[in-house]
Amino acid sequence: MLRVMVLVSGGGTNLQAIIDAVAAGNITNARLVGVLSNNRTVKSLERARNAGIPAVCVSPKDFADRAAFNEALLAKVDEFEPDLIVLAGFLVAIPQAMVHKYSNRIINIHPSLIPSFCGVGYYGLKVHEKALERGVKVTGATVHFVTEGMDEGPIIAQKAVEVCEGDTPEILQRRVMEQAEWILLPKAIDDIANGRICVKEGYVVSC
Ligand code: GRF
Repeated sequence: MLRVMVLVSGGGTNLQAIIDAVAAGNITNARLVGVLSNNRTVKSLERARNAGIPAVCVSPKDFADRAAFNEALLAKVDEFEPDLIVLAGFLVAIPQAMVHKYSNRIINIHPSLIPSFCGVGYYGLKVHEKALERGVKVTGATVHFVTEGMDEGPIIAQKAVEVCEGDTPEILQRRVMEQAEWILLPKAIDDIANGRICVKEGYVVSC
């Protein structure tokens, strides 16, 4: 059983998609062992508790500086002994110490087709604002492993989503979630849990 821990910052619709996929048997060989948020008030923690998953908060506000927060974050994650860490809308830069310790064991969902609209400053609604500003006709989502560089790790899966006339960032965000994110992320977890994919020489391959 793969021990999966999910890190969140917001509403947690991706977290819910994972919880539902486990319940429906669409993710097998995996157990959700914990949910961590950097924000005490988010709905994600409620979603986790409703599903009987231990939910904790590690907030930067409770620490003197970033280094102390990073240390506490890693210590809390370690307590759950995860085999896989899933960043499901986690808006905190992952400490390098965590990236190294959990090398090839952290995955992230990004709401664009990487390498478009990604990297520093591209998070949440901003990604969709930039896509609309640029006038792209197709956008999408990407699941990738987390490495040192932001949004630069090996790509696990991508799915394209059409941009429609009259889209607002909010409308586009919702469509990308429904048509791509909520499908890709649970599937990636299931693929990892069942040993269908692995990283070889910096690329994701079937194994
Ligand atoms: C998602 O669009 C995710 O790709 C992005 O932040 C959003 C989080 O949404 N990084 P939710 O908290 O899963 O509802």
